[in-house]
Amino acid sequence: MVQHKMWAIGGGKGGVGKSVLTLALSIWLAKLGRKVTVVDADLGGANLHILLGIRYPSVTLQDFISRKVDKLSDVLIDTPHENLKLICGADDMLSLANPKYTQKMRLLNQLNNLPTDFVILDLGAGTSYNVLDFFLYATGKLAVFTPQATSLQNVYGFIKSSLLRRLSREFSQNEVLSALIIRFASGSGEEKISSMSELKHIVREFSEENYLRLCQITDNFDVKIVANMVKKDKDREASKVVRTVTEKYLDIHLTDLGFVQYDTEIERSVNRMVPFLLDDSKSQAALSTYQIAYQILKEAAAKSSGDEHTRPGSPYAALSPAAGSPALP
Ligand SMILES: Nc1ncnc2c1ncn2[C@@H]1O[C@H](COP(=O)(O)OP(=O)(O)OP(=O)(O)O)[C@@H](O)[C@H]1O
Ligand SMILES: [Mg+2]
Repeated sequence: MVQHKMWAIGGGKGGVGKSVLTLALSIWLAKLGRKVTVVDADLGGANLHILLGIRYPSVTLQDFISRKVDKLSDVLIDTPHENLKLICGADDMLSLANPKYTQKMRLLNQLNNLPTDFVILDLGAGTSYNVLDFFLYATGKLAVFTPQATSLQNVYGFIKSSLLRRLSREFSQNEVLSALIIRFASGSGEEKISSMSELKHIVREFSEENYLRLCQITDNFDVKIVANMVKKDKDREASKVVRTVTEKYLDIHLTDLGFVQYDTEIERSVNRMVPFLLDDSKSQAALSTYQIAYQILKEAAAKSSGDEHTRPGSPYAALSPAAGSPALP
């Protein structure tokens, strides 16, 4: 059985609504009766507690890291929402801003072992290794963007960086492949590799085994996308653009979980530092975040019953046993 409870919300660009959506989805999952722990994993720019109306958190992740408290559960704090606990980041996380890979994994493993149905990570902006490693660790990966051209570029860059981080860890012992991955990452110069299919083609010439492994990784690289702050009908095409470009250059299929409208109520509640409320049935954003949360629930149920995602028609699919699609409970 695949454990599928940790979701990471990333997207590269700052200010696109990662924290707002993290919270909205966490609140809806809690309202749907699931035990949820939302974690401010924005090391250095923690603000999730403010969005929940908590000005001065009594404990933060820093207390756990510095061993002021023993157990991770000691830094869980209550929120105004039933079923929803928060783990705060801290303003002064400089010591944490560059934790070692093993430290990060230890923290993530412990978060994953919390006795809760969902652990939702709010990631910081950018594509630092911290952000990417948190994103890669989570079995549920959600990338948020806005319809602006710069945001589309950023989200593509974020997905590409996380895929390449995944590949460079996978092939870290293989010098030739590591060099090829760097050529693909740099994306410029005479030696550049401009797409994943080009990379796969080159790899196949000297190692069928590594080629198949590459295909397996891209097939299973399961990222969901959500467009936020959608204002007009045309904005909805943004997701299609992101999906098309990602498929063309990275050979991965994104799943579009929908979009969230621009909603002045969200902006107002953030500005007034009042806890986020989603019971305004008139709000389109409330409804769309509810629908996304519901899809996350369905996905978690499907994954837990062993529905591994393998793209039909891929070389890897041809070699692997047919993936079943068990019905939802
Ligand atoms: N759907 C929306 N409608 C209206 N305003 C929104 C919406 N989503 C987010 N915002 C506004 O955008 C601002 C930035 O959102 P948020 O803090 O969630 O971004 P972020 O991606 O987490 O940024 P950072 O990378 O800096 O952490 C919020 O203060 C809020 O006012
Ligand atoms: Mg944020």
